[in-house]
Amino acid sequence: MKEKVDAHIKEIKEFVASSVEEVEAFRLKFLSKKGIVPGLFGEMKNVAPEQRKAAGQVLNHLKNLAQEKFDSLKNSVESKDTSKDKTLDLTLPADFIKTGSRHPISIVRNDIINIFSRIGFTVYQGPEIEDDWHNFSALNFPPEHPARDMQDTFFIDKDPDIALRTHTSSVQIRMMEKVKPPIRSIFPGRVFRNEAISARAHCIFHQVEGLYIDENVSFADLKQTLYYFAQELFGTDTKIRLRPSYFPFTEPSAEMDISCFICGGKGCKVCKHTGWVEILGCGMVDPNVLANCNIDPEKYTGFAFGMGIERTTMLKYQINDIRLFFENDVRFLKQFEGAI
Ligand code: DAH
Repeated sequence: MKEKVDAHIKEIKEFVASSVEEVEAFRLKFLSKKGIVPGLFGEMKNVAPEQRKAAGQVLNHLKNLAQEKFDSLKNSVESKDTSKDKTLDLTLPADFIKTGSRHPISIVRNDIINIFSRIGFTVYQGPEIEDDWHNFSALNFPPEHPARDMQDTFFIDKDPDIALRTHTSSVQIRMMEKVKPPIRSIFPGRVFRNEAISARAHCIFHQVEGLYIDENVSFADLKQTLYYFAQELFGTDTKIRLRPSYFPFTEPSAEMDISCFICGGKGCKVCKHTGWVEILGCGMVDPNVLANCNIDPEKYTGFAFGMGIERTTMLKYQINDIRLFFENDVRFLKQFEGAI
């Protein structure tokens, strides 16, 4: 056994390794369960009892030597291993940083704000919980008037005076109570209606309201402002048309259609083969509304308009179900990556 051990000691001392694989080969050969050192310990039972002590010492020496050699080989190989080196290699392609994306409603709302701010409209916001005065009465909805039923209202605590606002027209009143003309502002925000949820309708959605009050504001100003807006949002080929309509707070009132930007007016699924799509309600602010806000209707005139952001976004991006905006499914939201 002595000769065998001496030969192994020599081999261990002379062993050189320059890679992790070679160090592992050393460990397997000498130290692993089936390696030489445990193997020799296994042979101890064959050694004569009076020689066991000496043989044990020799084997312990061999074992320590192999372990030390293994540790030093491992250290030297690891210190040379450049794969764990933290030095930056600037030629490597950069890591792809995953960013989120803006919600389509935010994209279109910001588009609308930008378009109107370019022609001098400021942004103002009002509360989502409103009283009857701002949501209805000051806007010329008489008590018991059926027009109130056009917008199914969520009341708070059964108090008929306090409700979630059904439209952003309420912010017109808040603005006119606070600021005297000239007023040129838009009011983006959330609105609430007690409606059954479907592909076309939701109980929570967003609107942008616009208000322009000054001396000598005419229907021609309304038309030109909205024409500019439609061209900016949907493209310079866009045409508009105004159809007579009714809202309690405007007189005259109109609904505005834009020429279908998908088919250019020829007729398609989006415009239901009419060549036109409805986009907003508008009109000249009713003199009663001005008077309700202590603005002299003999001196001032103005126009207002209101549009649904979901509806506008659905048209712009051809989205066919309003519920998608509230589900936050990443497969839907991902499609708006990169848009600002
Ligand atoms: N408030 C109306 C609605 O929610 C939209 C609207 C129509 C607003 C005409 C206006 C307007 O300012 O002039 O249906």
